[in-house]
Formats: sequence, structure tokens, C-alpha cells
Amino acid sequence: MPKRILVLATRNPGKISEFKELLSSFSVEIKSLQDFGPIPPVKEDGDTFEENAYKKAHTTAKILGFPVLADDSGLEVQALGGLPGVRSARYAGEKATDRDNNLKLLEAMKGVVDRRASFRCVICIAVPRGPALTYEEACHGEIIHEMEGDRGFGYDPIFYYPPLKKTFAQMTVEEKNRVSHRGKAAAQLRDEFDKVLLWLEQRLSEEV
Ligand code: IMP
Repeated sequence: MPKRILVLATRNPGKISEFKELLSSFSVEIKSLQDFGPIPPVKEDGDTFEENAYKKAHTTAKILGFPVLADDSGLEVQALGGLPGVRSARYAGEKATDRDNNLKLLEAMKGVVDRRASFRCVICIAVPRGPALTYEEACHGEIIHEMEGDRGFGYDPIFYYPPLKKTFAQMTVEEKNRVSHRGKAAAQLRDEFDKVLLWLEQRLSEEV
């Protein structure tokens, strides 16, 4: 029987190789948007990570006619009522760099005593007709007072993880993957992937 195809709703080479590696021992052919022609971009305008991940996965699945995996993630700061949240990538403006976003957040946190913050990640797998599975994980830490560390991306330099006494930007990739929101959500998906493949078989046989 030919392998089932699962499409990753991303063109980001880092994400593509991470998911391919994660699911390499399963009987599934992983493709990504790189393997298809241009398709209309999906607007990430939901109020939650779950809404955005589902919208990306389902819209892409409908367009391509294959099951699609999408993820959405970001940082929620307790004292800011959950900001930057779903706006994490664009916190300091549409064209903001990671540095712009970090500086804006440090400014917003000046004098704030409650520094608690959580990274959240939702991974969603949807079939063209609509049904979907979601995996959600969080990593809890604190916003420090100035950037520390030069690895990683996004808010890594200002997110301090007390159990390892390091910011995400001071961790190796392996250290970060063991504790991060994305690493834990991906591990959950991998641990259940046999069941996911069965679920896909059932859903896709209902589509015809
Ligand atoms: P996306 O889910 O890849 O679209 O990520 C949204 C935004 O959330 C990124 O642009 C980062 O600003 C932030 N973000 C998500 N995950 C991380 C992380 O592991 N470290 C630092 N920033 C992150």
C-alpha cells in the first residue's frame, strides 16, 4: 500500500526538517508547501493559537486535498493580560524584528513585579472535510530584565526558565527541545502517531 501523505503547512526549512526527523520512523510521506505551487496565504487572524493552527491546517487541506499539519505558537505574559499572545511575531509592528519585539516587551515590563510568562504551542492535523486533532503544550517561565544568550530566535533571550536557571537563548537545541512548548507538543504527537495514522485512515475513507 502506498504511504499516506501528510503535508506540513510551512515553507520554513527548519520546521520541515524537525518534523521530518520527528516522524521518520512512521509509515507516512511528509511533504511541505515547498512541494506544491503557490497557494493563497492563510490569514492568521484568530483570537487563540488553536484557532490559528486549525485555520491554517484546514484551509490548506481543503486547497490541496491532503491531510495537513500546522502549528501556531507564541508568548503570553501574565501581567500584560496574555500579550503578546497570538500577535507575538508582530508585537512591535507588521515588519518587526525579534529584537524590536524583545525591546518593546522589556519596556512594557519596566517596574512590573509579576514576571510570569508562558510559551504556548498548538499542533493541529486536519483533513479536507474539516475534522481535526490538536496537541497543545506550554512552558512556564519568567521575563528577565535584559536580554541574555545568543542562541534560538524570537523571545528566547528574555524568557528565563527557572528549573535550568537559563534563558531559552542560553540553552542548546537539545536542552530547549526537552522543555519547550513546541518540543513537548511534538513529543506528544510522536508518542501517539500510530493512533493518528489510524484516525487519518478512517477520516479519509469517509471523504470519498
Ligand atoms: P509561529 O508559531 O512560528 O508563527 O511563531 C510565532 C511567534 O511566537 C514567533 O515569531 C516568535 O516571536 C514567538 N515564538 C514562538 N515560539 C518561540 C520560541 O520557542 N522561542 C521564542 N519565540 C517564540
